[in-house]
Amino acid sequence: STVAAGERVVAAIDQGTTSTRCLLFTRSGRMVAVAQREHRQHFPSPGRAEHDASEIWRAVTRVVPAALRRAGLGPQNVVALGIANQRETTVVWNRRTGVPLARAITWQDTRTTDIVAGLAADADAARWARVSGLGPATYFAGPRLQWLLDHVPGARDGAERGEVLFGTMESWLIWNLTGGPDGGVHVTDVTNASRTMLMDLRTLEWSDALCSALRVPRAMLPTIVPNSRVYGRCAGLLDGVPVAGALGDQQAALVGQTCFAPGEAKCTYGTGAFLLKNTGSRIAGSEAGLIPTVGYLLGDRPVYALEGSIAMTGSLVQWFRDALGMISTAARIETLALTVPDNGGCYVVPAFSGLYAPHWYPDARGVIVGLTSYIHRGHLARAVLEATAWQTREVLDAMNADSGLPVTRLKVDGGMTANHLLMQCVADVLDLTVERPLGSEAVSLGAAYAAGLAVGYWPDPEVLRRNWHRAAAWEPRMDPGLRRREHDNWKRAVQRSTGWARP
Ligand code: G3P
Repeated sequence: STVAAGERVVAAIDQGTTSTRCLLFTRSGRMVAVAQREHRQHFPSPGRAEHDASEIWRAVTRVVPAALRRAGLGPQNVVALGIANQRETTVVWNRRTGVPLARAITWQDTRTTDIVAGLAADADAARWARVSGLGPATYFAGPRLQWLLDHVPGARDGAERGEVLFGTMESWLIWNLTGGPDGGVHVTDVTNASRTMLMDLRTLEWSDALCSALRVPRAMLPTIVPNSRVYGRCAGLLDGVPVAGALGDQQAALVGQTCFAPGEAKCTYGTGAFLLKNTGSRIAGSEAGLIPTVGYLLGDRPVYALEGSIAMTGSLVQWFRDALGMISTAARIETLALTVPDNGGCYVVPAFSGLYAPHWYPDARGVIVGLTSYIHRGHLARAVLEATAWQTREVLDAMNADSGLPVTRLKVDGGMTANHLLMQCVADVLDLTVERPLGSEAVSLGAAYAAGLAVGYWPDPEVLRRNWHRAAAWEPRMDPGLRRREHDNWKRAVQRSTGWARP
């Protein structure tokens, strides 16, 4: 084992879009073990994307003991458990049986297009957006919940009677961890709640106006809780360990990267990519297509963030691997892209679920443009990676246009940061230094920090800064003229993707 016998660690569960992991961290922020399990992606028809919440809970029951085994530790060594999760993915389940009423609808699913259009057309739309901070979009959980209530037999009746519960993934996991039907705690953390379109971003309470606009019965809603607090104790799995932290994965990464001062920003490259900038006590409005969101609530007062959400980055590589069979493993994309010096004039716009920030084009669909007989797999691989870089650039431009403090350095994390070519490309198109900390597990680390702070394992957030060590950095070295031309081509490609899904 890499840990001393009797050492105490904090456990984190990272319930992501494609997999569920358990990681164990020591006081210095060092990861001592990880166990991971993928779950099935259900794509029943174009635009629909679902997960089986029971399968995800089963994955948790496997990865937690597996991580402990790897570290040679037992539940008695775990001082607290924190959770980070894919956000906006929506589950409804029966309080008595613990069984979900339907598959969870994931954050990439666009079936709520009509509901969202109806909300956007309403006379009260602007007022609702001021309350929640969110303009109507298929991305958020509330419209999905409305869809489930309207389409799943018995859901609305059960919800009104308080028999059917709603939650995002952290809510579902905390309920199961703390006993499920036998006394499980029904809570949601404030960052996940801030992505439902049902919460008032100022009071951090469910909004009556929004609940009635989306026709969501209050009886089914979890209690909104801070990110760092003992919510309850594990029953069975990790028996007795306090569940003491929960954040949406992107906010967890903001904490894991210790972006505690206004202006500090991070971008996490996972299934999608999410750039968040700390805006302090200020809720930053956005003219440029970004989302004001709760960054974290660790003490008495919330810290807000401005977010640029990109739907497809890692999932585009996955599609390139699985649907097109162009590569055998995701990591091979770098090797393939390095077989060519440039994209050969080819651009991929991955608008598979529309384009998110800063455009919010729900009716965009993916395009590949610039194809000629010259183009081969290598150019496509390069264009796939460049799509991630240019999407980051669009979000960063919006962020700098929007709010006072410009982003001057960008901390990155997530699986895709292992790809040097991609990270160089990001630095090149952003014209900014990109830095990666030791251990790119900022999401899990942030969840561990929140839980450890709640039980006094760490005294306060400031000490966590000492755990951040720079492991790699990429400096921009692209010719400015080339950058301008490529940017222009990217913008033209984006234009080609818009409006495709028009009925
Ligand atoms: O908003 C969706 C986001 O939380 C998903 O994160 O890491 O599963 O791509 P990830």
